[in-house]
Amino acid sequence: MSRTGARVERLPLARYTTLGVGGESEVWFVSTQEQLAEAMEQPYRILGGGSNLVIADGGVPERVLRLSGPFAERDLEPDPQLSTGTEIVTGWVGGGVPLPGLVRALQKLGLSNLEGTVGIPGQVGGSVWMNAGTRFGEMFGGLHTIEIATPGGVRQVTPDDLNWGYRQSGIPRNHIVTRVRLKLRRSTPGEVQANMDAADQARKGQPKNKTPGCAFKNPTLPDGHKVSAGKLIDEAGLKGTRVGNAMIASEHANFIVNLGGATAADVHALLEVIREKVGVPMELEYELWPERPELTQAPVAEAR
Ligand code: EPU
Repeated sequence: MSRTGARVERLPLARYTTLGVGGESEVWFVSTQEQLAEAMEQPYRILGGGSNLVIADGGVPERVLRLSGPFAERDLEPDPQLSTGTEIVTGWVGGGVPLPGLVRALQKLGLSNLEGTVGIPGQVGGSVWMNAGTRFGEMFGGLHTIEIATPGGVRQVTPDDLNWGYRQSGIPRNHIVTRVRLKLRRSTPGEVQANMDAADQARKGQPKNKTPGCAFKNPTLPDGHKVSAGKLIDEAGLKGTRVGNAMIASEHANFIVNLGGATAADVHALLEVIREKVGVPMELEYELWPERPELTQAPVAEAR
């Protein structure tokens, strides 16, 4: 236990990621603002659903913070002061709340705006931080207020205060999305379900193995068109390429999958192969712990 009562334990991080890779590190389970402030006194990283993350085989030296307790609870009651007839603003939804259960609950309530994120396995905090989404919708399509813990204290912002865009919120890396209020449109369970079905359909061909999801963001070509990173990697002939027990999926080339017993080093090696073989500069969508700028950023000379 820490001074303020946070549970602190050394744990293998592989079990907290959808890829199933990552060594031992010191995990802080924080359930109050006070515990969070204490945890942030030393270098730290924030672990959400671990669904877009590749953690090195040796773990990380920093504290790994995980939101629990009230930070993993949700209040979907419309706020009477902020809601109107058709627009609903909810109570607080914790950063540690799993996104899939939230999306399902909103469908049952007939509340629309976030159903396009169906199938994304992360938690609310991480999903907001990277503005996770699909072609059918993204997190910033349904946010009213975002509460952020920073090294300088807690503050509340609206999407208008942030420089958000495709797969980015503009929230600095070491700031933690502790809770949000959702902005939703009153619809019907049937209509929300129909939208979810469309997004689900688009995901049909994706691999079923352990994976952190799409490896690269879809790049924008010099002529302004966005192209599918998966299509580019596929066209480079890389589907099925294997290093150790990691493989570029044969179903969709923007997915790296763990065939069982893969290491982070295997995954890094595959990212290098993709960087080398695909001519178009692409930005990594995964988070790498620790950072590997040479794998993350699109080559500066070519990126425009
Ligand atoms: N394609 C290929 N070969 C491939 C993969 C795709 O030819 O190996 C072609 C498809 O046939 C299709 C086009 O590329 O014509 C687009 O593919 P898809 O519909 O799968 O969309 P995407 O742009 O590759 C995006 C998101 C996915 C999301 C899907 C479905 C990004 C980087 N990816 O993929 O998100 O699931 O749309 O909505 O934005 C993720 O972010 O982790 C992720 C997987």
